[in-house]
Amino acid sequence: MVLSTGNTKTRTAVFISGTGSNLKSLIKFSKTTKSPISIDFVVSNNSKAKGLNYAKLYKIKKKILNFKNKNISENKLLSILKINNIKLICLAGFMKILSKNFIKKFKGKILNIHPSLLPKYKGLNTHERALNNNEKYSGCTVHFVNSKLDSGKIVLQKKVKISKNETEASLAKKILVQEHKLYPKAILKVFSL
Ligand code: GAR
Repeated sequence: MVLSTGNTKTRTAVFISGTGSNLKSLIKFSKTTKSPISIDFVVSNNSKAKGLNYAKLYKIKKKILNFKNKNISENKLLSILKINNIKLICLAGFMKILSKNFIKKFKGKILNIHPSLLPKYKGLNTHERALNNNEKYSGCTVHFVNSKLDSGKIVLQKKVKISKNETEASLAKKILVQEHKLYPKAILKVFSL
């Protein structure tokens, strides 16, 4: 895989918008010997994102960009990522849509985790929609990012059973536990391709 750089870990940036529990699990994974990546940069569009605390805790460089003007924010970001020699981007609860131009510059090098069994329930409010449709199962998906929302090639998925009295909150929690396991597995898979 083009991402692999021999013995050294691939320098990776994680983009977040909120809690950052996936960021935390990726940082923990990155510190294991089997990890092909190191987390060297955290990007957030939200200055109040709780996940930014992990950047502080683990002494990882960070950048907050508000994305009010997407073009300006993305151009700044591209130069920062270049300066920091970032070769892989992991979106982890990042709630902004990256432009075609940005994605082209990191073609095949952006991964995303989404809280549904894609291609079902692209976009927002996945748990609410799955429950309203009386689905028996939901889950999470790690996929490559292309220019169409939540539509890139799927790397791995994990299915979870929806219980009788499931609520949006309980389903989100259940799926998040699986997300934390799935993202590292998907990264290992991507590097073995
Ligand atoms: C996760 O469930 C992730 O799959 C989802 O946001 C949550 C972030 O949690 N992402 C999306 O909905 C992207 N469209 P976290 O901040 O604790 O990792």
